[in-house]
Amino acid sequence: MALLEVKGLTKAYDQLKVVDTFDLKVHQGELRCLLGPNGAGKTTTLDLITGRQKATSGIISLNDTVITHWPEHLRVRHGLGRKFQVPAVFKGLTVQQNLTVAHNRTTSPIRNMFVLRDGAAQTRVRQVATQVGLARRLRDKAEELSHGETQWLEIGMVLIQNPQVLLMDEPTAGMTAQETYKTGEIFNSLKGSHTLLVVEHDMGFVRQIAERVTVMHMGRFLAEGTIAEIENDSEVRRVYLGKEGKASHA
Ligand SMILES: Nc1ncnc2c1ncn2[C@@H]1O[C@H](COP(=O)(O)OP(=O)(O)OP(=O)(O)O)[C@@H](O)[C@H]1O
Ligand SMILES: [Mg+2]
Repeated sequence: MALLEVKGLTKAYDQLKVVDTFDLKVHQGELRCLLGPNGAGKTTTLDLITGRQKATSGIISLNDTVITHWPEHLRVRHGLGRKFQVPAVFKGLTVQQNLTVAHNRTTSPIRNMFVLRDGAAQTRVRQVATQVGLARRLRDKAEELSHGETQWLEIGMVLIQNPQVLLMDEPTAGMTAQETYKTGEIFNSLKGSHTLLVVEHDMGFVRQIAERVTVMHMGRFLAEGTIAEIENDSEVRRVYLGKEGKASHA
């Protein structure tokens, strides 16, 4: 049984289908990479899964429950977590406070900010900070973090809410090579215990983290397999990867 399943997913603007009868199954504990050229429909697919955009047709199910027509906030409550490209951290708060606020979103908003010293919550905050490599920055304000660290904080803020599936759109965008590598290590450590769907263009990063890879092209499913299978697929090479097996778009 797939944890996240998408069947016949379609998003049309007038006559133009930007996602076209797309199928995808992501299993529990899997880290799936979603690749494709610019405009392939990757971000739209994530938007349809999270409910940010409405599907024209098709079915989305999470843990055997059809959520296709659910509003965004109910999907979040049902276990969909998403990291957006633009950081949404509170700059004036510390790493610890940001994680605490995110943690308390899963409980009651009224408790928010009043439970900063709550023991169980703080244990969890430290645990997640360690997972995303920010254990030593807990007392630093978010505004003092580098771009990469800010992205990791955001990943932590999604993780701390214990989503069943975590969706990420180009998590390494704007990162240095070193930050990108460290992000790969963070993702690798999440494998097995977390279920992730990651959109990326950076092929070095994809090679570092990939298990199964799905490729989209013009809204449609193009290929699926291991990274080696994908890199040797002639259609994938033609539409997405250059001769040297590099993404031709970045
Ligand atoms: N509101 C809209 N109206 C019409 N077309 C749209 C709209 N929003 C997106 N599109 C089109 O949908 C297609 C898919 O866009 P999407 O952002 O999902 O692609 P992507 O695979 O995420 O690309 P990238 O790699 O550049 O991020 C694009 O051709 C885009 O121009
Ligand atoms: Mg996109």
